[in-house]
This record gives sequence, structure tokens and C-alpha cells, in this order.
Amino acid sequence: MNDPGGDLKPLDFEPRTAQFREEVLAGLRSRPKTLPCKYLYDEAGSRLFDRICELDEYYPTRTEMAILRERIGEIAAVLGPDDVLIEYGSGSSTKIRILLDALDRLAAYIPIDISCDHLQRSAEDLAASYPDLPVLPVCADYTGTFALPPVRADAARKIVFFPGSTIGNFEPEEAVGFLRGIAAVVDRGGGLLIGVDLKKDRAVLEAAYNDAEGVTAAFNLNLLHRINRELEADFDPDRFRHEAIYSEEHGRIEMHLVSTVAQTVTIDGIEIRFEAGETVHTESSYKYAPEEFAALAGEAGFAVERFWTDAKRLFSIQYLVVA
Ligand code: AVJ
Repeated sequence: MNDPGGDLKPLDFEPRTAQFREEVLAGLRSRPKTLPCKYLYDEAGSRLFDRICELDEYYPTRTEMAILRERIGEIAAVLGPDDVLIEYGSGSSTKIRILLDALDRLAAYIPIDISCDHLQRSAEDLAASYPDLPVLPVCADYTGTFALPPVRADAARKIVFFPGSTIGNFEPEEAVGFLRGIAAVVDRGGGLLIGVDLKKDRAVLEAAYNDAEGVTAAFNLNLLHRINRELEADFDPDRFRHEAIYSEEHGRIEMHLVSTVAQTVTIDGIEIRFEAGETVHTESSYKYAPEEFAALAGEAGFAVERFWTDAKRLFSIQYLVVA
């Protein structure tokens, strides 16, 4: 069905420079200063994130993969034949391959990703590996609105796959709104297979975001390089340092870029002042106790039907159904 030599051009809704500029300036003008974490993932950032996933200290990826592999029989059993599998933020396709290897006769696989080139390449690779599976990539910011491509008329349920604990990047209230959106997409009878990072010892959490090799620091600081490159800015990344701390109060890891000196940076002609020690909050990564996440999902209209975890209860994969 798929022509591996052919072009799988995704539907393109990639947000452009104007939006990036507006969001960067709005974040740096607010107090405390912030930058949207979705911009961490340009080419260089995505490569650094792939390296983070291999680090000894960074347990989430490895643990999620282990749960997927170990429980693939049970996981595949909740997904039926003829279902449409929609992956939010498909990135690198290692996880989906574990699922696709175990599922046959899916009506379609729809990967949605903001990075069009990367999406196109991985969609072509998947189409070549699974010749009978319709792979229908959509290039979009999955937090916004997008249209789904048409699928077979006799397709059964829609199931969203959202691994990696990316849900932890949202503020809890935003997470409820975002999950409500997924509930609307999959509709009654549909489901959500989601990776959720769990609350645990502070030392384990902080080590995961402050690796000894400094890859996470480079990932965080790459945002300044990106702003320099794409927005004619003059950040000196040597005058900022990476910081990641666990806030018990919020139940989240916070990533910051700390200005080590008082300085003024110019972005596309606009001057932004930083005090010595002032921080830019670049990412939050919320950690949930199982009952906390169940309550949050419940507010969005989902019920937790299945919960899989590892022996150390570091990470979870959960299957939610529209209640
Ligand atoms: C991709 C959002 C799940 O929060 O653990 C890893 C991103 N940031 N190290 C996470 C990240 C720093 C990651 N998520």
C-alpha cells in the first residue's frame, strides 16, 4: 500500500518565526521571565534531547521503554484491530515501533509533530517498515487545533498515544484542558495511552535533570543559541547557567537559565535587561502520584482503566477511556 520511495509530505501547520518572536519577547518581558519549553526542540535541541534519553541519570525514557516491552501483550490487548492510532509529538519513533510490532490491522497511524522535516523522515521510515499500514503524518502543534486526515470509513476507535511524560510540561490546569481536547478528538469509546512520570525521591529527580556530562545544561542553553540564530539576538550563553531544582510545593522539576551577571541582551532591536542571578524559567516537569493523575484525568472526562509501572514505581503507562 505504501510506496517507500514516494514522498510522504505532511500537512504543514508549522508555526513560523513571527510567532516565535512574539512568544520569546512576551516571556522575557514578564516577571518572572519565562520562555516556552516547546522551543527547546529545534534540530540541535532534539539531538540533545535524544542524548538525554540515553543518560544513566535520566530514568524516564529507559523505564517507559522497559514497561512498554514488558507489558506489550497487555497493552496491545486494550488496542483493537481497525483502531486509528494517533501519536502526539512523535519525535523519534522507537516507542511506536514496539506498539506497531505488536498490533496488526490498525486502520491508520497518524503521527503529529511540530518538526515537519523530522516527521516526514520518520513517517517514510515507518511506512517502509509497515507496508500495509496507512501512515498519515500531520505537521502541527498538537496543543493547537489541527485537522485529522481522512481514514477508512470502517475504522473503529480513535486512540491517542502520548508517551514520554510530556504531559508533565503542562501546568496542571492546562493539562486538564489539553486532556479535554484529546477526549474530544477520540470521542466516546476512544482512549488515551499516556506515559506519566511519578513522584519519587528528590535526589533521583534532581540527578535526572542535572546530569554529570552536562547534556541537559547544553539542551537548556541551546534555547539561547536558537534565539540568537533565528531572531537576530545577541545572547552570550556563557553568561547564563543551567539550573534544575525539584519544587516539593509544586511537585515539579523546574528548569531555569540563570543570568550570572547583570546584562542587557538585544533581540531584534529590543533590549531586555537581566539582573545578576535573575532566572528565566524554561521548563516545568510535573511529577504525579497515581491518585493525583487519576483526579486530573477525571476532571478532563477520562477514567483510568489500566495502570502499568516498573518494580521501583519510577514511571507509569496508563490507559484512559472517555468516561
Ligand atoms: C520530554 C518533557 C518529558 O520533562 O523529562 C528532559 C524534557 N527536560 N530533561 C522531561 C526534559 C530536561 C522531558 N520531557
